[in-house]
Amino acid sequence: MRLLVTGAAGFIGSNFVRLVLERAPTTEIVVFDALRYSGNLSTMADFAGRVKFVKGEIQNARLVGETLVNEKITHMVNFAAESHNDRSLLDNSSFVQTNTFGVQVLLEAARTHRLERMLQVSTDEVYGSIADGEFTETSPLEPNTPYSAAKAGGDLLCRAHWVSFKTPVIVTRGGNTFGPYHYPEKLIPFFVVRMLQNKKVPLYGEGTQVREWIHVQDHAAGIWTALTLGEPGQVYNIGDTNERENRAVVDLLLEELGKEESLVNKIPDPRKGAHDQRYSMNSSKSQNLGWKPEMQFEESLRATVRWFRDNEAWWRPIVEDDGYKSFIAKFYGPGLGEDL
Ligand code: TYD
Repeated sequence: MRLLVTGAAGFIGSNFVRLVLERAPTTEIVVFDALRYSGNLSTMADFAGRVKFVKGEIQNARLVGETLVNEKITHMVNFAAESHNDRSLLDNSSFVQTNTFGVQVLLEAARTHRLERMLQVSTDEVYGSIADGEFTETSPLEPNTPYSAAKAGGDLLCRAHWVSFKTPVIVTRGGNTFGPYHYPEKLIPFFVVRMLQNKKVPLYGEGTQVREWIHVQDHAAGIWTALTLGEPGQVYNIGDTNERENRAVVDLLLEELGKEESLVNKIPDPRKGAHDQRYSMNSSKSQNLGWKPEMQFEESLRATVRWFRDNEAWWRPIVEDDGYKSFIAKFYGPGLGEDL
């Protein structure tokens, strides 16, 4: 297999490359990344010598095509995405560009160059929010934010490419993912790096929303299973059964770091109507391929906290970057930036 991994300098993409290098060391891997704000060379430093790197945007059809040809790529997995809901509430044009148009470019390239398999990494958020029960792969797509709507656009293009052209594409939909190398803007890494600096953390409302959490190694293993054993044209949910309210997750972070409850600042919910109350997926279809999540939630969350504590050299340059600081000031508002 000659595998192109797009978005490999980001969180789930980089962890997927680590997993493939360990599980299938003979795989030739080419990594492709635009190195936008959340993709960093430092995230790939530990495997840089074992892969070939191409810098570029997935929307760049010429560069994508050249890479597939020059590197004789047979399989492609797309992790490249704009992924932060809060950013999509401020400005969503880049979300449509990357998450929808970018996927269209990759699908056309996969079709033209006759790849054996393309896998599009998607999210449970395309289904919207569910009060009771679980989403299955046939649940309707009812995304509620510009981020999830743009991801759903990518998923629908995958479906249409399979039906129209038999482009051999598989879609996976993952749950809320956590673990090492997570860019510190999502709940867990954002709160951990702030707590480590004794800065207050902004909990939206009372923190009663429920997310289904999966460790990044389990998520990456599910993607690998779907890529190698899944059927083209199919969608596979990749979730674990760890449903937790946000406030319970935050309590665990405080406890592991030995910090006081007073660090938590409950703020009026900035997502307003766009805040999905609960995500929950049925993942038996991917389990039928032989995959199952193996990490225990509390234990692996604590290990993740310790990873951030021990890897300040990775996150410190990120949080000191002007672009990072200006997003926080802009989103959380004056007085909520550094003085949360
Ligand atoms: P997030 O990690 O952004 O993932 P998603 O929106 O994709 O689920 O958010 C997870 C939950 O945490 C969500 O209910 C919003 C909440 N949250 C906060 O309370 N404060 C924060 O600063 C962030 C980023 C999220």
